Amino acid sequence: MEVVNSVERMREISRDLRRKAKEVGLVPTMGAFHEGHLSLIREARRRDEVVVVSLFVNPLQFGPSEDYEQYPRDLERDVALASCLGVDFLFAPSAEEIYPQRFDTYVTVEGLSGKLCGISRPGHFRGVTTVVAKLFNLILPRRAYFGQKDAQQAIIVGKMIRDLDWDIELVMLPTVREEDGLAMSSRNLYLSQQERQEATVLYRSLCWAAERIKAGEKEAGGIREGIREMICSMPSARIDYISVVDPETLEEIERIEGKVLVALAVWFGRARLIDNLIIAP
Ligand code: PAJ
Repeated sequence: MEVVNSVERMREISRDLRRKAKEVGLVPTMGAFHEGHLSLIREARRRDEVVVVSLFVNPLQFGPSEDYEQYPRDLERDVALASCLGVDFLFAPSAEEIYPQRFDTYVTVEGLSGKLCGISRPGHFRGVTTVVAKLFNLILPRRAYFGQKDAQQAIIVGKMIRDLDWDIELVMLPTVREEDGLAMSSRNLYLSQQERQEATVLYRSLCWAAERIKAGEKEAGGIREGIREMICSMPSARIDYISVVDPETLEEIERIEGKVLVALAVWFGRARLIDNLIIAP
């Protein structure tokens, strides 16, 4: 495995891979790998000839009062894990390398970026789509791998790919969970023991919603309210949003007729956790 730090070297590698007509799989990450990341890398290894993993804590997607500085970083461990899984290139540039002094161009997916997480994190998805667009242009992957854990992110990137005519297949893979159902996340490290325990309510409430919807419940309002009650019973929980939306438009739904995305964001202490399920009646 080669660890690549510069844009110039990454471009040289991409050019060479294109010349050899290699199919490249890209797994964009911010590092601090857990099983969620590793599941994406394994699938890329299964499907693509060449696997590139990017590791970049993207300052552009963090708000001014968010956790950019505290975000967990462990390059040495990540390099060892990626190498173990047979990654070909680990692209780990510095912030200056990606955003040089005069950087003025941004990619925004209008509409979708202002919904759900976009309401309490203005500018977040603009940061995500800008960096992912740069990675796509630089690495020219055939496939790009994203986790359903961040469903809105995957939906927005999919829209960007279609809107900007990239010939890239977006592969969305299932959320990897701890044994008690908590979705794996780098931010779980911020939880105290009690908060960690209480946070298991998120997946329980989503499973309850899935059961209700599969049993024929049509009123999204009742689903939202039921989830709210379960979460509010936890003393350290502070709800950001609980949504039942159309998985394509992310518009709130009143009557459940087809597939829905049930998504939530809840603070436990200083950790803002998100989770979701896509549920078909
Ligand atoms: P990061 O949070 O490091 O996540 C990288 C990828 O891993 C994303 O596609 C995310 O959805 C996926 N992932 C995270 N936790 C997961 C889990 N428990 N199960 C399955 N997949 C999981 O998402 C980002 O980084 C950034 O926004 C990025 C796309 C790299 C742009 O900066």
